[in-house]
Amino acid sequence: MDTIISPSILSADFANLQRDISCISDAGADWVHIDVMDGHFVPNITIGAPVVKSLRKITNMILDVHLMISEPNKYIDDFIDAGADIITFHYEAQSSLALEIIKKIKSKGILAGLSIKPMTPSYILKDFIPYLDMVLIMTVEPGFGGQKFMHECVSKIADVKEMARVFAKDNLYIQVDGGINDITAKICKKMGANSLVAGNYIFNNKDLKKAICSLRE
Ligand code: DX5
Ligand code: ZN
Repeated sequence: MDTIISPSILSADFANLQRDISCISDAGADWVHIDVMDGHFVPNITIGAPVVKSLRKITNMILDVHLMISEPNKYIDDFIDAGADIITFHYEAQSSLALEIIKKIKSKGILAGLSIKPMTPSYILKDFIPYLDMVLIMTVEPGFGGQKFMHECVSKIADVKEMARVFAKDNLYIQVDGGINDITAKICKKMGANSLVAGNYIFNNKDLKKAICSLRE
């Protein structure tokens, strides 16, 4: 599987999202990563379903929606109706409903992802792997762009790769998010990540194409 690059528009210009999405598309990005934060699960408020709906109208790119919200089960339908292609939510937000939420997402014909924060161990993912399209290993505490990559999370990537092997899930996306640049991307890919989210590293680079290519190298 070629490495999927999913630029996080949290680092884009919110007054020019159409322009910035067109720029990352021209620069060769695969997906658009949309960080949804509710000011409760994380200490920041960002984007909601109406914005996803508007973005759906202006791009055919895959909308990779990362929900950092307390009660994902209440809002899944809104994001599906808005046109998300992938919905990833956090295990920590509603651990007892996680399987139900995954099945709900899948029943609507889109891809389901489950994410864990840096302090959450990888073994909790085991029961969900057979049902998932993607696992997102956070390599910073969710909430803000531009934070420092946490090297202590890296071994969890290999744990997930091994779980995917055990369950014969060859197509499982193993995504990492937080502090990804050309150096940390190499470390994550070596451990088995095949989908990289990057905000600051891509959008703060004058040459978007070069930045995206450097994550693939
Ligand atoms: C953090 C978000 C990330 C963030 C990544 O909670 O989930 O997607 O935008 O930003 P960088 O790549 O700047 O760490
Ligand atoms: Zn994210």
